[in-house]
Amino acid sequence: MSSDSREVILGVGAGIAAYKSADLLRRLQDRGYRVSVVPTPSSLNFVGAATWEALSGRPAHTQVWENVHEVTHISLAQKSGFFIIAPATADLIARIAIGRADDLLTNLILASDVPKMIVPAMHPNMWNDPATKANVATLRSRGFTVLEPDTGRLTGNDSGQGRFPEVSRIVTEFDAMTGNKQDLLGRRVLITAGGTREAIDPVRFIGNRSSGKQGVALARAAQLRGADVTLIAANMDTSTVDGVSITHVESARDMQVELAKEFKTCDVLIMCAAVADARPVTTLSEKIKKAFFTSIELEANPDLLAELARQKSHQIMIGFAAETTEHIDSARSKLTAKSLDIIYVNDVSGGAIFGKDVTHGTILLRNGEEIALKEVSKDALADLLLDYAIRQLG
Ligand code: C5P
Repeated sequence: MSSDSREVILGVGAGIAAYKSADLLRRLQDRGYRVSVVPTPSSLNFVGAATWEALSGRPAHTQVWENVHEVTHISLAQKSGFFIIAPATADLIARIAIGRADDLLTNLILASDVPKMIVPAMHPNMWNDPATKANVATLRSRGFTVLEPDTGRLTGNDSGQGRFPEVSRIVTEFDAMTGNKQDLLGRRVLITAGGTREAIDPVRFIGNRSSGKQGVALARAAQLRGADVTLIAANMDTSTVDGVSITHVESARDMQVELAKEFKTCDVLIMCAAVADARPVTTLSEKIKKAFFTSIELEANPDLLAELARQKSHQIMIGFAAETTEHIDSARSKLTAKSLDIIYVNDVSGGAIFGKDVTHGTILLRNGEEIALKEVSKDALADLLLDYAIRQLG
């Protein structure tokens, strides 16, 4: 499993500032990071696991002894792109500097070589103690980013350097470390998602298994990177995505109408929707009685993507393909036939991928490049496709 640049571990040490990390967690999520919280056992005296689990929507493990069969310390370490340890106490800093692995967090830190940020918070005497100074210097020399604590009033009556920094400063510094970018600022991204339904009668339709999850992941990722995003959603569970304008459609022809309104002004079109290739020649206004429901005459739907490709001016166009056989060859033909810049082909044999949070497949580019993806989250694929789109936008 490869690490994911939006997957972050938030390590929480046993300082009173732990409660401020609840807000930090929220702000990180707002920036598009998906955060797993790993509190040290003693930090649970300040903020309990229930708070972290509720806020992150994920389990909050503290010990290597939990879920041993999952080898949590290795699997979590492998999938995470970055660490942020906040608050880091003098003791936690000392344990990391010395290479201890006596709880899950310190195990993870040792097991992972991704960039790590440490946000210290402690009494000024502890921060200024030569032992802490030496430990901080050691960590910095090993590539850890250690923030300077703020100066001011501490929990008691004392004041000095040792306060947990303002959350906005932490987030800015963290973004700088991760390279989180707003590289779609001022761009319009149009995305279709879900699967069209072609009505047979008021009750029945021809549909497909597309859940719309990949389209939502794309919309969210583009929005977080600063784009103005419109999502044309066909028959999906998701009805809203923060900051994204959504239009709901049912059939391929409804989608065609909405695309026609939006295409000219978009910079990137991502046709993630599974569009039905054909529709019934007639849609009956009354339910067809069982005895007469024996065959359905079909006619071809327009190929929406191919049509738009003919009107394309500056747009980057990304298509999706779901194949069960000869997937690379058919996707490459579609890339050419539909004049696409990029196509992502899923191997959906055996019902894989539909409705799941992970995908596997291949990205094909116009210049012949092929990027095979073994197993990635749909969020990670979304970011990767946007990276390629931006590369081509110039
Ligand atoms: O169905 P097919 O494999 O040809 O789909 C490839 C791409 O073409 C997808 O991005 C899909 O959204 C788009 N498509 C379309 N209109 C159709 C069929 C597919 O725009 N009628």
